[in-house]
Amino acid sequence: MPLPPHELERLRRAVAGRSAASLVLDPSLTSEEQDRLDEVVARREAGEPLQYLEGTVDFGPLTLKIDRRALIPRPETERLWEEAVRSLGQAGPGTVIVDLGTGSGCLALALKHAFPDARVFATDTSEEALALAAENAALTGLEVAFLHGDLFAPLPRDLGGRIDLVVSNPPYVADGDALPAEVRDHEPHRALFAGPRGTEVLARIAEEAYWRVGVGGWVLCEIGDGQAAEALDLFNAYDREVRRDLTGSDRILVARKGASCCL
Ligand SMILES: C[S@@+](CC[C@H](N)C(=O)[O-])C[C@H]1O[C@@H](n2cnc3c(N)ncnc32)[C@H](O)[C@@H]1O
Repeated sequence: MPLPPHELERLRRAVAGRSAASLVLDPSLTSEEQDRLDEVVARREAGEPLQYLEGTVDFGPLTLKIDRRALIPRPETERLWEEAVRSLGQAGPGTVIVDLGTGSGCLALALKHAFPDARVFATDTSEEALALAAENAALTGLEVAFLHGDLFAPLPRDLGGRIDLVVSNPPYVADGDALPAEVRDHEPHRALFAGPRGTEVLARIAEEAYWRVGVGGWVLCEIGDGQAAEALDLFNAYDREVRRDLTGSDRILVARKGASCCL
């Protein structure tokens, strides 16, 4: 099936490295650009995600590099970022923010952009994803400490009990659940699958975050469709609620340690 015209236009812009306006004024491509366009159109028609072929993705205020090393940032994760910014409100030099499973670095970098004085740490078990996140830090000029390892394990010990905000878009697909072919065949499986239930990583975050955030500290996580009741149960030691994404689905768990006044 031929590509929809808007996708073809996006790929033309990416290949030519020019704006839409410039391509309207002069639509011609060099022969190398045309060859490259033919190649990416064929790959798109074979099911490769558009953003991997474009090589960039917009996330909140940032334009980031993206490729197969990390999950493509999604609009529901931008919503998580917005909720995190709203929850934290303000941040000074003593404020500590942690992003677990940072992937491309989208949440950590967008939070550093919103709170330039805060110290932002981000972890991931994928060295490849962390390499991409570091490239995105260089691209945006934002300073985040990207650390390799499991959830909180690589963080400096002196942060224990002093974290103000934890965000995470953890893997939350149950092993064996069906995914669209475009996702299943091209995005990293370790970013998607969490275990037999799908909530295994979320459960660990609920438990491990409790002793690391300060009183009044926030934990915000993206969750899968149908996981709201279990997420509320997992976070029963916190004041918590589940908020909706733009399509009206319950997708954002907002939890706060010991401050029922302010959710
Ligand atoms: C759903 S992706 C989210 C990536 C990025 N935060 C985003 O929203 O686009 C989950 C990420 O968590 C990482 N991950 C999986 N298990 C992890 C663990 N135990 N500790 C740290 N990172 C983990 C994966 O490598 C992947 O980059």
